[in-house]
Amino acid sequence: MHKTTFRTHTCGELEKKDIGKKVTLSGWVLRQRDHGGLIFIDLRDRYGITQIVVPPEFPEEPELEKFHKSTVSAIKPESVIKIIGTVRERPSGMINAKLSTGEIEVLIERINILSLSKTPPFEIDSDKEVNEEMRLEYRYLDLRRTRMQRNIIVRHKVIKAVRDYFDKNDFVEIETPMLIKGTPEGSREYLVPSRLYPGKFFVLPQSPQQLKQLLMVSGFDRYFQIARCFRDEDQRGDRQPEFTQVDVEMSFVEAEDVMSVNEELLIELLKEFAPDKKLMNAKLPRMTWKEAMDADKPDIRFGLEIHDITDLVAGSGFKVFSEAKSVGNFVRGLLIPGGATFSRRELDEFEASAKSYGAHGLIYMVYEKGGIKSPILKYLKPEEVDAITNEFGAKEGDTVLICSAGFKVVCETLGHIRLVCGDKLNLRDKNVFAPLWVIEFPMFEWKPEENKLDASHHPFTAPMNEDVGLLDKEPEKARAKAYDLVLNGVEIGGGSVRIHDPKVQSRIFEILKITPEDAKLRFGHLLRAFEYGPPPHGGIAWGIDRFIMMILDEPNIREVIAFPKDQKAKDLMMGAPSEVPEKQIKEANIQISKD
Ligand code: AMO
Repeated sequence: MHKTTFRTHTCGELEKKDIGKKVTLSGWVLRQRDHGGLIFIDLRDRYGITQIVVPPEFPEEPELEKFHKSTVSAIKPESVIKIIGTVRERPSGMINAKLSTGEIEVLIERINILSLSKTPPFEIDSDKEVNEEMRLEYRYLDLRRTRMQRNIIVRHKVIKAVRDYFDKNDFVEIETPMLIKGTPEGSREYLVPSRLYPGKFFVLPQSPQQLKQLLMVSGFDRYFQIARCFRDEDQRGDRQPEFTQVDVEMSFVEAEDVMSVNEELLIELLKEFAPDKKLMNAKLPRMTWKEAMDADKPDIRFGLEIHDITDLVAGSGFKVFSEAKSVGNFVRGLLIPGGATFSRRELDEFEASAKSYGAHGLIYMVYEKGGIKSPILKYLKPEEVDAITNEFGAKEGDTVLICSAGFKVVCETLGHIRLVCGDKLNLRDKNVFAPLWVIEFPMFEWKPEENKLDASHHPFTAPMNEDVGLLDKEPEKARAKAYDLVLNGVEIGGGSVRIHDPKVQSRIFEILKITPEDAKLRFGHLLRAFEYGPPPHGGIAWGIDRFIMMILDEPNIREVIAFPKDQKAKDLMMGAPSEVPEKQIKEANIQISKD
């Protein structure tokens, strides 16, 4: 590292070969120990820890630069000091093989206190669990801890490797604006009121989707960006209102071309950043959406298959089951071997997460010693209970969890619960990475509440060539040139080949019940650009927070983001969102409704 006024070396740098050197170090006091006259200070920075020795004869002098020993012993942990001293060998028996600097120590000559610290709200020097609210409120202190420093540095390295990879492959990184036009599709957008144009708004981008397509029209045939995206959605473990994508778009490609460029990057990253883990398949398997749908985001490292029992329970006395088919719902479930040991609280947690995926509830059947425990038992005939038991192969000690909901909700809910149970039962081998592609997604999904079809991916996704004919008669059967990248059951990326033929695009808008006027209002910029020679193109975006979370074996993406929001989309450190002065509200030309 370059020398600065405050240091000649970092706290992780000095070793045997430096013995005898006069050095200046600056850092945080991790701890100090008084060994009867001799004081040891562990000085820490992000590079490591160096042991500083304050001898009994440390000179007592009045100037600030040189401190009396009693001053040294009064310095509280986490204060910042600068020391000047000489590197010497540690006496044998004092060597610490765990530290890179474990063979040396620095005999202090001068000390300068740069700033003092109050007692931190939690121990920095410990792996003890700390309440997450506290960690987020004092995130700057949380980020001092070894685990977080590692995470943030690995994040930097992954992103650098991504940049290097795309650069090497002729991609150009282009920044796209944060203040854009609202074009509601997919997620809810964050609004930014315009001061200059009363009643008008910018929105923050959900993703640079339309802008990267416009860059293809401009001839930047290989684009990428480390792009910040904003989505005002309900929060879950692997979602943040503000997150980062590795966003990619390419011209003159088909789906396989985009997939192969990204597959190669994935394998490179896994090899570099998770060298100790086994890669289940160096060539990614392709699974059609139909094959994958049972588990939503399939983790192919373990079983726990999801069973469809819609027909099996159609005649039962339990309305949720018997009426499922007629309202377009599916009844599905999964068997958890040994699940009878789950506590009431665990079952409640499953139900709560089912609700967060949009299901009304989750039904359990616990196969206890004396019989089956389930709130629906009273509605079912014994032979119906037997049929369910046989279908799942349930025996004493097991639990069956059942969900009845629309197709997407049932798949997502049980897919999620399958992963959580896989974790609980230790079926997900942490040492194996099993990536795969899910392909052949349906173009559309039915939105019962709006009584119309909606785009499964987004309205610019191209249909598969062999399914273009279906658009007129049976659009719901048409498959898209779309692909999702799934790693150990987590969707880490998704993309598609886009429509570049205006006729096909108009037809898709028709199917989505977007009128030509509406299309012009929302996507006019894109449609107009497509009148000027759009190349065939396609792309993908990775949720890079999720990927880094997986590389680091972290349980959620907040652990790999320096300043994340909490699970209620709040910034606990800054206290955002917050109220703003009346004047600012006026200037933004908005009114706050009293209720
Ligand atoms: P999509 O919406 O599938 O596609 O997003 C791509 C990837 O981004 C990640 N992701 C998230 N990560 C954290 N928090 C969130 N709230 C969040 N939402 C999504 C996921 C997901 O796979 N423009 C298209 C891509 C394209 O077609 O090129 C898009 O944004 O890992």
